[in-house]
Amino acid sequence: MQLTSENTYSIQGIAPAQLIADYGSPLYVYDGDTIRRKVAELKEAFSGVDMKIKFACKANTNLSILRLLREIGVELDVVSPGEFEMGKIAGFEGQQITFTPSGVPFAEVKDAVEAGALVNVDSLPLLEWFGQTYGNTKPCLIRIKPNVAAGGNVKIMTAHADSKFGISVLLLEDILAIVEKYNIRVIGLHQHTGSDIKDAEPFLQVADILFETAKRFPDLEIIDLGGGFKVSYLPGDAITDMKLLGSKISERFAKFCSEYGRSLQLWFEPGKFLVSESGYLLVTATVVKEDPARNFVHVDSGLNHLIRPMMYGSYHHILNVSSPAGNEKLYNVVGYICETDTFATDRLLPEVSAGNILAFLNAGAYGFTMSSNYNARFRPAEVLVDKHKARLIRRREDLTDLLKTQEGL
Ligand code: LLP
Repeated sequence: MQLTSENTYSIQGIAPAQLIADYGSPLYVYDGDTIRRKVAELKEAFSGVDMKIKFACKANTNLSILRLLREIGVELDVVSPGEFEMGKIAGFEGQQITFTPSGVPFAEVKDAVEAGALVNVDSLPLLEWFGQTYGNTKPCLIRIKPNVAAGGNVKIMTAHADSKFGISVLLLEDILAIVEKYNIRVIGLHQHTGSDIKDAEPFLQVADILFETAKRFPDLEIIDLGGGFKVSYLPGDAITDMKLLGSKISERFAKFCSEYGRSLQLWFEPGKFLVSESGYLLVTATVVKEDPARNFVHVDSGLNHLIRPMMYGSYHHILNVSSPAGNEKLYNVVGYICETDTFATDRLLPEVSAGNILAFLNAGAYGFTMSSNYNARFRPAEVLVDKHKARLIRRREDLTDLLKTQEGL
């Protein structure tokens, strides 16, 4: 979102008010240029190595976003049959899709393998089953838990010793015994540390653990270091320095490859980094309530549309796009869900009046995908602004969507 010289906001030249007029409120809007810029930034940072980007589509499964990413050379990481099908519809095929399950029924893994996807095996029982079922006829990657704690908050850390994800690196001998027993074709090692990781240090730490572990697997083609790069939820907040991370990891990766005796591919699975910044949730202020304790801005949305503040205590920056130059006042910005539903506490905003449009920033990742129909509310429409044109990429829900799975109408 750019602030123009006339003190109005625009997304590629289109005013948020125009988008609301055309598509209604609330509305998810994505800026295609921002997604392209983030992909280019990541590619540039790792230009010295053979790097592949596997978009962790749990962050955003809109087909138009998936297609945009596919067209610029990004591949896909999925965690469920549903994401897998959406990936296929968006045009990804075969080994362009990696399935990274977490303790799922083996039938889900079988379907993915038989549809040609690569799988990150995340438990010893799954590895045993994989060996029994496929022997050495299908390749797989193994998800290692490196026992490193890092991430924006404890709910989004996935590689510490107490995490459910992956197979502990301490069980390496057990992994090798199963691999040997069935002659399993392990072509890659994978790990994902967590989300919202700013510093290069944890990435380097887990990379070193994976490189060391890799020496025990002779047939590797891939080292997959997962996602988790930090984005700027708070303006001016320090984010992952991608240039620095790229040069440090690339250097160590090159050294590892020469020790290993062959060039491997380096994979990443970013979600937030690619799409968070591209997305805005536009809402409309419904009621401004000047309570003796606090000023409340009620909006026509809630935790059913953007759950991150209530779920993780996350900060999402808010702009009053209707009145950017007003005098600032302190507000609690609250949603319409009938329980505590707070988007922001004690937030300074240009004075808000009913009818003003507010924009929540960084809503492109884990926004719509984590939305729900709580309180029997409809999910918003989604719009993609690309090449200076806005295009509806998901219609707003209506009552038929709420009722279509119910019996006894
Ligand atoms: N790879 C794997 C195996 C993952 O589990 C995840 C995220 C990613 C990649 C992508 O991580 P990212 O680059 O987006 O940080 N709902 C939470 C984030 C949960 C992330 C879960 N796994 C949030 O809104 O902060």
